[in-house]
Amino acid sequence: MATRRRVALVTAAAGAGIGAAVARRLAHDGLDVVVTDAHQRRCQEFADALAGEVGREISVHHLDVTDHDQVRAVMSEVAAAKGGLDVLVNNAGWSRIEPVAEMSLATWQRCLDVDLTGTFVCMRFALPAMIDSGGGSIINISSIAAWEMSTEHGAAYSAAKEGVLALTRVAAAENGAHGVRVNAVAPGLIYNDFLRRIYPEEFFDDYLSRKAVLDRIGQPDDVAGMVSFLASDEASYVTGEVFTVSGGVSARG
Ligand SMILES: NC(=O)c1ccc[n+]([C@@H]2O[C@H](COP(=O)([O-])OP(=O)(O)OC[C@H]3O[C@@H](n4cnc5c(N)ncnc54)[C@H](O)[C@@H]3O)[C@@H](O)[C@H]2O)c1
Repeated sequence: MATRRRVALVTAAAGAGIGAAVARRLAHDGLDVVVTDAHQRRCQEFADALAGEVGREISVHHLDVTDHDQVRAVMSEVAAAKGGLDVLVNNAGWSRIEPVAEMSLATWQRCLDVDLTGTFVCMRFALPAMIDSGGGSIINISSIAAWEMSTEHGAAYSAAKEGVLALTRVAAAENGAHGVRVNAVAPGLIYNDFLRRIYPEEFFDDYLSRKAVLDRIGQPDDVAGMVSFLASDEASYVTGEVFTVSGGVSARG
């Protein structure tokens, strides 16, 4: 019997940044990548382009991680159609920077819904399929905002991303015996065209001069490299950890 390719589902994979870079990298690694995003048209366009690049079909599903019925349906459809699910990358994130004393409840709730509950719900409905597949790897995209004392990200985002780390550790402990590894990646500032439009030049200069030890801004591929490692068998003894990809922000202390 022909062995199937390992199946990897990436959320928010059709944007300008990390999700698309991760999907591209995993597809080039030889995995059977399922591209998902809340933006249906961009999702299809990106999957078509990636299929052209790697020379094989790339599955695509419209998926908003705040729509729990949709998450449940997509996870079970993918597992049934592909014969399993091996890798899940929870990349979807949202933030709006408002000081705590002025923050609307809608901002707080939206951020937790996408960043934390979205990650939980995807894990909740992917884990049974992964356990059935005999194991797998879940990679949650957190942020250095989880522990930085800074107003740059907003409290809702920092709280949600710290929550993702707690969720990662407990899920790792619960599922190690099933062969499912659960890790988090915490990027620092990672350049993308969308951020370039919303932040001034000084924002990027400031990160370089105050923070990053390496003399450049991070690129989505820098994060994709770490995700590729964590998804692979090279990381088969690695679980419950958080890996920073920040150009050395942590090293600065
Ligand atoms: N870019 C950075 O500097 C940086 C730093 C640290 C952490 N992160 C985290 O990395 C992840 C990716 O960020 P990025 O900036 O590279 O963006 P990205 O381009 O990977 O993601 C944007 C995409 O997210 C999709 N999306 C938004 N809400 C969604 C939802 N509810 N369900 C499904 N898809 C949704 C959008 O349609 C868009 O296509 C996020 O979790 C973010 O918090 C980013």
